Amino acid sequence: MYQILAREDLTPEIHLFEIAAPEVARKAQAGQFVVIRVDEKGERIPLTIADWDREKGTVTVVFMEVGKTTRKLATLKADESVVSFTGPLGLPTHIEKFGTVACVAGGFAIATIVPIARAMRAAGNKVISIMGFRNKDMVFWEDRLRNVSDELIVTTDDGSYGRKGVVTIPLKELLEGDKKIDRVVAIGPTVMMKFSSLTTQPFGVKTIVSLNPIMVDGTGMCGVCRVSIGGMTKFTCVDGPDFDGHQVDWDELMARQRIYLDEEKRSLELWQRSRGRR
Ligand code: FAD
Ligand code: FES
Ligand code: MG
Repeated sequence: MYQILAREDLTPEIHLFEIAAPEVARKAQAGQFVVIRVDEKGERIPLTIADWDREKGTVTVVFMEVGKTTRKLATLKADESVVSFTGPLGLPTHIEKFGTVACVAGGFAIATIVPIARAMRAAGNKVISIMGFRNKDMVFWEDRLRNVSDELIVTTDDGSYGRKGVVTIPLKELLEGDKKIDRVVAIGPTVMMKFSSLTTQPFGVKTIVSLNPIMVDGTGMCGVCRVSIGGMTKFTCVDGPDFDGHQVDWDELMARQRIYLDEEKRSLELWQRSRGRR
């Protein structure tokens, strides 16, 4: 069992758990993930490692409530436990001195980009970060991202905080501006990563995205997480999750993410009914 040492509600639907997992903490690197099971009967879901403390033996995950398992996870309090917490999985993000790196993130993925921005900066890069949210109430970890960036731009879709609009607007402005951008890392909802990649493509700036297909084992055995990259089949859990955004077959990825929508909906309804609320 893996004990939740601390819980923080970053927004009403986004939660942070600091979990005692010394084996994972010892090896964790930016860009990797864990596969969690809430209880013995629970499905496996992947969550990115948002932070770790090797001395304390803890790993931090940040998750958004979207369906049954993430909602079930959100019912747990500090001192309770999850039954499995497997990792670190996936390849770490490739970090080197590129020059100027734009780190672009949306929604819960702000937690994913922070360790990457920190590692990019530690490698000697200038880091310009762009964080995007639907509205002011969804904003979290602005300070954490600011602390690991040379510049930070905040956007909200409705303009209730920071600049109005989506992250690709300031991203395009950066690419058109005087500063040479040597690499872009874009992480967030699939549609945001797709459009970030389409924005950078005409400028020829390599763009790394962290793909989020459905996963089961997370170790390359089930094949559920397969994606097409430059016409080749790759397993996101072992060959990624980072890939070149200009090579991703986005339509296939989005179609595969929706395969079990009916089952997911039914499973959430059954769970909610079993808890006595509709
Ligand atoms: P459901 O209602 O079952 O599903 C909602 C949608 O989530 C589905 O339509 C599907 O597209 C996706 N999904 C469902 N099951 C899985 C699964 N087993 N694996 C992957 N996607 C699934 N979310 C976070 O909030 N924080 C993170 O740090 C985070 N990191 C991720 C890292 C990776 C490598 C991947 C692949 C996904 C990550 N996700 C993260 C997404 C998270 O795994 C899904 O939101 C979660 O599995 C949804 O489960 P559910 O039962 O609550 O929702
Ligand atoms: Fe099974 Fe990747 S999740 S092969
Ligand atoms: Mg589910």
